[in-house]
Amino acid sequence: MASENKTVTEMADKKEIRLGLIGAGRRGAVAQYMHQPENNVFLTAAADTDPTALKAFQETVGRDVFLTEDYRELLARTDIDAVLISTPDDAHEEHAIAALEAGKAVYLEKPMAITIEGCDRILETARLYNGKLYVGHNLRHFPVMRKMKELIDAGAIGEVKTAWCRHFISYGGDAYFKDWHAERSRTTSLLLQKGAHDIDILHWLCGGYTETVTAMGELSLYDQIKDRHLPEEKGDAFWHMENWPPLSQKGLNPVIDVEDINMLLMRLDNGILATYQQCHYSPDAWRNYTIIGTEGRIENFGDMSGDSVVKLWNKRHNYQPQGDAEYVIPEEEGSHGGADPKIIDEFIRYLRDEGGSTITSPVSARYSAVTGCKATESLRNGSQPVRVPQLSKDLADHFETTFQ
Ligand SMILES: NC(=O)c1ccc[n+]([C@@H]2O[C@H](COP(=O)([O-])OP(=O)(O)OC[C@H]3O[C@@H](n4cnc5c(N)ncnc54)[C@H](O)[C@@H]3O)[C@@H](O)[C@H]2O)c1
Repeated sequence: MASENKTVTEMADKKEIRLGLIGAGRRGAVAQYMHQPENNVFLTAAADTDPTALKAFQETVGRDVFLTEDYRELLARTDIDAVLISTPDDAHEEHAIAALEAGKAVYLEKPMAITIEGCDRILETARLYNGKLYVGHNLRHFPVMRKMKELIDAGAIGEVKTAWCRHFISYGGDAYFKDWHAERSRTTSLLLQKGAHDIDILHWLCGGYTETVTAMGELSLYDQIKDRHLPEEKGDAFWHMENWPPLSQKGLNPVIDVEDINMLLMRLDNGILATYQQCHYSPDAWRNYTIIGTEGRIENFGDMSGDSVVKLWNKRHNYQPQGDAEYVIPEEEGSHGGADPKIIDEFIRYLRDEGGSTITSPVSARYSAVTGCKATESLRNGSQPVRVPQLSKDLADHFETTFQ
């Protein structure tokens, strides 16, 4: 969060920013980091189609804010400079385009959109309106991921050649099979919905974007559960540790047509080969990355700050579990291991043109979503290798120059 020691002069120098939230559900909680009165930034409005979500939001912020069930009313307000869009994935395109057309700066939750065309329409609208667009790939702000990036950039493993990510999701049955996440029409796939984070990290760590992808996946467990809530009921998508084993889950979404195991292979445009594997009913919850270069390998154990370590092997061994060097990741304050306050601070810095590069970009967000879309196509089409459409050069150039 912003420093509490700001002087009155420093504050007066900073232009006031007023922010609104669209989608006050679970992820909407990240908006709390946007309210920084000491930094002249105020969270002043929220829109959600669900009045219960609005009421809960009002109670959490504990002061008077503008509330509406119609996001267009929020966008019509001239006293709102920027919006955080945290609605379900299938609404991102509509909400981001409407916000950019209304002249608002946008913080859009990942994945950018659920179709390739949707992603590119958002980028085109941002360019047309010269709008500020920032996509919330907060995994890049996880201290453990930043440590891996730092080691790679420092040459600790030589030239990167391959990168593998295994994603264990113990809470899959809680968070993704009881509501809209379970439906292809709302997400395209969980490979895209969850994997967008990791495809993005693999691109970032490897310094390239996927050119060709092939995938396999299966709905292997959750379709066996017959205990479903009614279509008009809201599923309880909160995590409950006692929901174990996975087949004991109750109250699943009436429609389940997304896969619960997803595996993909990617060839990047710089020749690096990467893999991503995701299972929605593992007993534990974390991401394990290993990156292998010409002179070594790094791997993370645990992914939350205060509870994780990155190990480096850069000498020849047989089995050697401790590594040649260990980098313990210290505890940081804030949700997602400290990543959420950092990404919001970065967004505010970007809004204010305060300089310094951002570690996320709309172009990289586009490539992670588009790779997820194409991987889903391969997965549902006999694992055929599929080429990922490249972004037009003029659009890429536009964001290249506005995003450094
Ligand atoms: N970066 C992260 O770590 C992270 C974590 C969780 C979720 N997310 C992303 O955040 C988004 C929201 O996920 P969630 O888990 O909070 O979902 P959610 O279902 O809990 O919340 C979505 C909210 O949007 C509201 N909504 C739906 N349609 C709307 C509309 N047309 N206008 C206004 N409000 C509308 C719903 O009523 C709900 O309150 C997703 O895109 C998800 O991928 C990101």
